[in-house]
Amino acid sequence: MPELNPNEALREEFNRWAEDGRAEGMERDHLPITLPVLEKMRLAPTDNLLDVGCGAGWLARRLAAAVPEGRVVGIDVSDEMVRRARRASPDHENLLFAAGDAAEIPWDANFFSHAISVESSYYWPDPAAGLREIFRVLREDGAAWLLINYYRDNPHCHQWAQHYAVPTHLLSADDWAQLFRASGFRDVAHERIPDPSPSPDVYTGRWFRDAAQLRAFKSEGALLVRGYKPASE
Ligand SMILES: C[S@@+](CC[C@H](N)C(=O)[O-])C[C@H]1O[C@@H](n2cnc3c(N)ncnc32)[C@H](O)[C@@H]1O
Repeated sequence: MPELNPNEALREEFNRWAEDGRAEGMERDHLPITLPVLEKMRLAPTDNLLDVGCGAGWLARRLAAAVPEGRVVGIDVSDEMVRRARRASPDHENLLFAAGDAAEIPWDANFFSHAISVESSYYWPDPAAGLREIFRVLREDGAAWLLINYYRDNPHCHQWAQHYAVPTHLLSADDWAQLFRASGFRDVAHERIPDPSPSPDVYTGRWFRDAAQLRAFKSEGALLVRGYKPASE
């Protein structure tokens, strides 16, 4: 069988996730770490926002409500995720979804005031290319925000590698910051976003050894990396 190119493999894998009903559960898992990021973004009603790797669109819908005079675009490499996102968002006039790769964002340059990506960037076949594309579509002084649960500095997620069906990147906070700078971003910074949601007393899933490791993972927190597109001289 001929090997799939990386984007085709991602599309198939995340179409499977969507068909297995996993997209909707991600809101529950990612909301507690995303809410603090939304606070930090300090959105204005006229902002134009991009959600890269938007899945079934729960975050894009929240963003659309926060910018009633702006526009929100969600893109995802999985066309099944995009179909579900559209189906779940019939009444949002300032929101649209498009199938697309982070490394080839189907939008004009200099449009968005913020780009956010939640739990997606370590899947991108070429994270540097994705960051360069985000830089291109941001307007001057626009900000990129990547939220990442799978990163080298948190030892309680390294075991996830054995469960991934597609290649992933286990980078450190400094590696991500370096990629931001190499793409042209300024004022690059990173921090941890702990997950305050309650944990079960007993864990029976496959991602963590036990409930203690899940608790340790959540208290280490997700990695948030951000940077700004400089104004031209
Ligand atoms: C773990 S899910 C997170 C989805 C969503 N951000 C959420 O929090 O529910 C990762 C998403 O990233 C998307 N993705 C992976 N690689 C991508 C790429 N190269 N370009 C665009 N989207 C990508 C997947 O299709 C999937 O929907």
